[in-house]
Amino acid sequence: MARLSVCMVMVFFLLWAIAIQGAEYLKYKDPKQPLHARINDLISRMTLEEKIGQMTQIERNVTTPEIIKKYHIGTEYFDWWRECTSSHASAETWMDMADEFQKGALSDRLGIPIIIGTDAIHGQNNAFNATIFPHNVGLGATRDPQLVKKIGAATALEVRATGIPYTFAPCIAVCRDPRWGRCFESYSEDHKIVQAMTELIPGLQGDIPANYPMNFPYVNNERIKVAGCAKHFVGDGGTINGIDEYDTIIDWNGLKNIHMPAYLDSIRKGVATVMVSYSSWNGKKMHANYNLITGYLKNKLKFKGFVISDSEGIDRITSPPHVNYTYSIQAGIQAGIDMVIVPFKFVEFIDDLTSLVKKNVIPMSRIDDAVERILRVKLILRLFENPMADRNLAGQLGSQEHRELAREAVRKSLVLLKNGKNTDEPLLPLPKKARKVLVAGSHANDIGNQCGGWTIEWHGHSGNTTIGTTILTAIKNTVDPGTEVIYNENPDREFFNSNDFSYAIVIVGEHPYSEYVGDSKDLTIAEPGYSTITNVCESVKCVVTIISGRPVVIEPYLEKMDALVAAWLPGTEGQGVADVLYGNYGFTGKLARTWMRTVDQLPMNVGDPHYDPLFPFGYGLTTTPTELIAAHVQYTTEINSQTENHRLHQHKYKLTSPQKFPHITVHTYEQNTNHPYDFLSKKDIKKKMEEKEKYQIFSAEEEIVSSAP
Ligand SMILES: *[C@@H]1O[C@H](CO)[C@@H](O)[C@H](O)[C@H]1NC(C)=O
Ligand SMILES: *[C@@H]1O[C@H](CO)[C@@H](O)[C@H](O)[C@H]1NC(C)=O
Ligand SMILES: *[C@@H]1O[C@H](CO)[C@@H](O)[C@H](O)[C@H]1NC(C)=O
Ligand SMILES: *[C@@H]1O[C@H](CO)[C@@H](O)[C@H](O)[C@H]1NC(C)=O
Repeated sequence: MARLSVCMVMVFFLLWAIAIQGAEYLKYKDPKQPLHARINDLISRMTLEEKIGQMTQIERNVTTPEIIKKYHIGTEYFDWWRECTSSHASAETWMDMADEFQKGALSDRLGIPIIIGTDAIHGQNNAFNATIFPHNVGLGATRDPQLVKKIGAATALEVRATGIPYTFAPCIAVCRDPRWGRCFESYSEDHKIVQAMTELIPGLQGDIPANYPMNFPYVNNERIKVAGCAKHFVGDGGTINGIDEYDTIIDWNGLKNIHMPAYLDSIRKGVATVMVSYSSWNGKKMHANYNLITGYLKNKLKFKGFVISDSEGIDRITSPPHVNYTYSIQAGIQAGIDMVIVPFKFVEFIDDLTSLVKKNVIPMSRIDDAVERILRVKLILRLFENPMADRNLAGQLGSQEHRELAREAVRKSLVLLKNGKNTDEPLLPLPKKARKVLVAGSHANDIGNQCGGWTIEWHGHSGNTTIGTTILTAIKNTVDPGTEVIYNENPDREFFNSNDFSYAIVIVGEHPYSEYVGDSKDLTIAEPGYSTITNVCESVKCVVTIISGRPVVIEPYLEKMDALVAAWLPGTEGQGVADVLYGNYGFTGKLARTWMRTVDQLPMNVGDPHYDPLFPFGYGLTTTPTELIAAHVQYTTEINSQTENHRLHQHKYKLTSPQKFPHITVHTYEQNTNHPYDFLSKKDIKKKMEEKEKYQIFSAEEEIVSSAP
């Protein structure tokens, strides 16, 4: 008896010691363990409820720390169009909110951190006082992937400054019809430009180290990077007549050659997640497409991050949405979706998915695949080691450095479509010294209008929605102190009888919109834009600047204008527009979209047989910075060749004192665009100076004298 109890005491002691050991050491929490060992260890400890919680993304406005703990919620997203931004929340407030939810997750049994996502698609556009970068349609015109990468890095910092480690960007849609309300989220109609601009991904996530596994999700583990999301898989930009969320009718080769290539680039660059498109491919909803999500993306392309649905995306598998939610869940999860943006009715989602697994309709292996992918991204993000916001980053939100970068992006995104009624008399760059200048138009003094959709609110908003520089303010900042600037939003004819202007700048365009709300059949600008153009341009020499998410109908008014600039949706840094209008910098942007004459021509993309645009893909006139011309350059121009319809001008600039231009940067363009500034790089200038050689800068400009008969 006595010996037995001693023995039993020893056994109990042993068990107790093991238990203590177990409590102290959890393999999945050990950063020294390999990734797969941590994932396997954690999954082996998880109940079905905990696994399904990881797959459930809910909206901030239905989230509390208690709900996260009770339902083992693994992820949520923060929106902006509700109470938070109306109170102009600071970076610290955002971080407090994120951390409070995170504490809820960490207090759950296994302490798995939540991943918070957000739609930061042109800067941290949810947050008041963030830097708002130009929308993708403008960035495509820059033809500058390195600039886009820098924007990714700045956006990552500003997203982190709001306590968030994950953004649903980039949108790598190839918009084939500008009537689509999301066309401004697309870099180009040309997949090659979209592919080049996937450089946003290493900007957001960091550069993959040399010895990193191929095609594996990557996020730099310093807390200045965020997980990205290539979206919307796949064919979102190809729907019939540009109708949002509609059907992309194209054969497999078309899908593969136009809409798919940028996914290969994104995966190669380590994109952490992919979002599925609301749209259909040949009548089949993408959210239910097993062959493309599991068969192609996961099995063929070997994507190892997680696949996320769009918000209520599985609901829309049925028509009307949500009529058979159990079926939607079944179809979506079986197709290969790992994380579902529910986002409100999460109890229903959790109950229905649980019962589908318990009834063996959805196999446990499918759930484990989803959870493995989600945990992989969380571990790569180092969320287990650093779940809380980094307070040191608060100052990054809307920092001066980021605003300078955005201003550079604005300058490079502007496309000059017309310059002078005849080319011998260009209107741009504008003289800073003038007696009296008129600025007109609904978009001249409106931050909300120049930022467009997805800014502070889902659809954006006209008016003073956030901090920035309007184009009017920028013009006033730029002109000579002696120049009088008069602003009149929509002057009538009468107004010009009593005023005498040296020239006018008209800034008009589209009002903000996003998604299906922006679908447009007529592609006209907001009233009274056309009458503002007519009234002003018939009275005084004028440059028209269009603020829009896409090409708009302009041909009937083109004759009246002396100059025309496409400024897209430039964001908060309107100073970039004035920088180029006034010649502190030259125009360099090239159309990344075809500019149609009429909507009847659509869809019409470069390479189409019926191609007859107002301005072709790749078009964009250039100007020379005025200081360059004025002070330090000998300028000559000659007509190099002439046909009935085209003249090729050649401009020669000879720099007399290159040491005065250390800020001149190289612009590289595709060879087939007609007229780049062929500026020399700093290095080349230095080399030339050492060689004591004289050198020349050339640019050529193609002028369309009249349209082909
Ligand atoms: C959350 O936001 C949605 C969408 O705007 C709204 O319909 C819903 O009523 C909100 N829920 C709560 C609890 O505030
Ligand atoms: C929902 O869809 C499933 C699968 O197609 C079907 O069996 C079921 O009858 C549907 N339920 C309703 C209420 O339509
Ligand atoms: C906006 O952010 C800048 C830079 O962080 C800060 O200096 C400024 O006070 C902020 N403005 C407002 C109105 O919050
Ligand atoms: C926005 O702010 C500017 C500058 O403070 C002001 O001139 C303008 O009238 C304001 N616009 C609106 C719509 O409130």
